[in-house]
Amino acid sequence: GDEEETGEDYLFKIVVIGDSAVGKSNLLSRFARNEFDHNTKATIGVEFQTVCVEINGKEVKAQIWDTAGQERFRAVTSAYYRGAVGALLVYDISRKTTFESVSRWLDELNTHCDTAVARLLVGNKCDLENIREVSVDEAKSVAESEGLFFIETSALDSTNVKTAFEIAIKEIY
Ligand code: GTP
Ligand code: MG
Repeated sequence: GDEEETGEDYLFKIVVIGDSAVGKSNLLSRFARNEFDHNTKATIGVEFQTVCVEINGKEVKAQIWDTAGQERFRAVTSAYYRGAVGALLVYDISRKTTFESVSRWLDELNTHCDTAVARLLVGNKCDLENIREVSVDEAKSVAESEGLFFIETSALDSTNVKTAFEIAIKEIY
């Protein structure tokens, strides 16, 4: 009946990881609700949003999980990663230390997820070009050597936010 025809055909779990304050929660709120918050509070535990996107004419339901970057606020990690088919590893292009943490986040991801999980390296806050600390070239070379897709985004001005999530979803799909 109608219900079947309008129902979503696919449901995918995507996790967003990276250091505190790189903009994970704002990437998600920009993607899900087209909202940005200049004074976001650090995430405590785990939150998720379900977003419907159309890929190749099919409705795809993405369940996007956002967790705390701060160790003391983190929930049990194995539960967070369970069933994930895609992952966004986010750093802040204006803070080198967040880029240096990428290998640690990748280790955690590899511990909890199998290699089939679509992995995307996301350099967020590309609007902060004037205080950039991580070049596109060095990020690209890390992405290449680790087998990750790479994109720069800005949750503030919306650059590539939709594209980033769509790359992850398309790759899975
Ligand atoms: P945790 O929940 O602690 O892990 O942090 P988070 O990664 O979720 O970061 P959050 O989204 O809370 O953003 C942290 C700060 O960065 C906030 O003040 C945001 O307004 C700001 N921010 C997020 N994305 C961008 C961006 O693309 N550009 C700029 N300029 N600021 C951003
Ligand atoms: Mg957050």
